[in-house]
Amino acid sequence: MTLVLNSLESGDCSEQIKALLAGKDENIEIVNTADMKIAHCMGCNMCWLKTPGVCAIRDDYEIILKKLVAAENFWIVTDTKFGFVDYRGKRVLDRVVPMLNMYIEFRDGWERHQLRYHPLNFGVIYKGDGNQELLEEWSMRVARNMAGRSLGVIALDKNEVREGVALEAAAAPVENAAPVKRVLILNGSPRVKKNSNTNKIIDAFGEGLQQAGTCYDVYSLSNRLEWDAAREAFMTSDNIIIAMPLFVECLPSLLLEFLSTLPTERKQPAQLSFILHGGFDEGHQLRLGEKFLLSLPAQLGCSCGGVLVKGGSFLLRNRENSYIKKMTDKMLASYTTMGLSFARSGSFSTPEAMKFTGPEKNPWIGLLLFNLIFKRIVKKNFERIAQEWGCTEPLDSKPY
Ligand SMILES: Cc1cc2nc3c(=O)[nH]c(=O)nc-3n(C[C@H](O)[C@H](O)[C@H](O)COP(=O)(O)O)c2cc1C
Repeated sequence: MTLVLNSLESGDCSEQIKALLAGKDENIEIVNTADMKIAHCMGCNMCWLKTPGVCAIRDDYEIILKKLVAAENFWIVTDTKFGFVDYRGKRVLDRVVPMLNMYIEFRDGWERHQLRYHPLNFGVIYKGDGNQELLEEWSMRVARNMAGRSLGVIALDKNEVREGVALEAAAAPVENAAPVKRVLILNGSPRVKKNSNTNKIIDAFGEGLQQAGTCYDVYSLSNRLEWDAAREAFMTSDNIIIAMPLFVECLPSLLLEFLSTLPTERKQPAQLSFILHGGFDEGHQLRLGEKFLLSLPAQLGCSCGGVLVKGGSFLLRNRENSYIKKMTDKMLASYTTMGLSFARSGSFSTPEAMKFTGPEKNPWIGLLLFNLIFKRIVKKNFERIAQEWGCTEPLDSKPY
């Protein structure tokens, strides 16, 4: 079965979709998600560690999860913004996480979560000025996460003349900017502040800023009540950092929504930089997100201060265990060093910021050691956390 999630607000385009997918599958079901109640994933991890496979948000997405369990091919139909999938399209993708489970393995040489059910192929049909190359790479990455293949990226209206958003022109970060006096930091994680790994990273980074005498203000976008003030601060600050976790290979849908509410023109110039982190520790897992981020400052009327990229942040919020505490203390201390470096150099285009990411890929010896020793330790650790969270089901159970 082919499941198509149509997130477009602009009426029913089922005939157009069917025509585009003609010959690919006889059995196509199109679901219009604009008619459904679907919230942003808030990153609570309940679907992995407390009620395996069941999302804590009790809205219409459960209907979709049940359909995904029966599907083989999965398309999203989405509008675009900033050259990428808009927040409505990304929102239906971020919620797909219960289709995977907490356990980690290496597939095609990459760290991955295990499938809860079966492989899913994935494709994108888009409207508007999407960047074809970026969307193709994203589709391929998403499909591989679900052990499937990319079904392709198709423009909804093939005859429409689209400009496409150029990524490269906007990509060069400013080098050797002046030392920073004050910086605005936005926490782009949908997870509540007290549990957010991004928040822990911002605190550590902020310590470094303060050591250099740089002041900073923080707004958390997980709290919508802070959005007006965050927008106002974004428009009036001249040095802005948005810190965020990687969600399904790119930005969380909640952050995409916030960005799409910003005015397109600014009165004062500003430099916009980013801190991008993710659960897996390999640098290359974050590179598509980085590519997209590098294109954003120009689209928001800002100059680009670069992207600080680092994986391995998943355990920052679970620091009870002394081994994990030691490991994560070291990581947080390295963010403090980067705060100091940013305050002095004014950007993330320094050699130390480039080196900060660490290895792009695990070496073969790392894969071997993982399979022989660490896999079991990591598994046990997740099971311990689940038990502490009151989980009574096996983490790989299949509720649907
Ligand atoms: C819906 C969702 C999708 C995620 N996708 C990825 C991913 O594609 N790659 C990755 O390395 N980590 C991924 N993660 C892990 C988060 O980036 C990581 O846990 C991060 O530390 C969360 O930061 P926060 O607590 O501030 O939200 C994902 C987490 C969630 C909840």
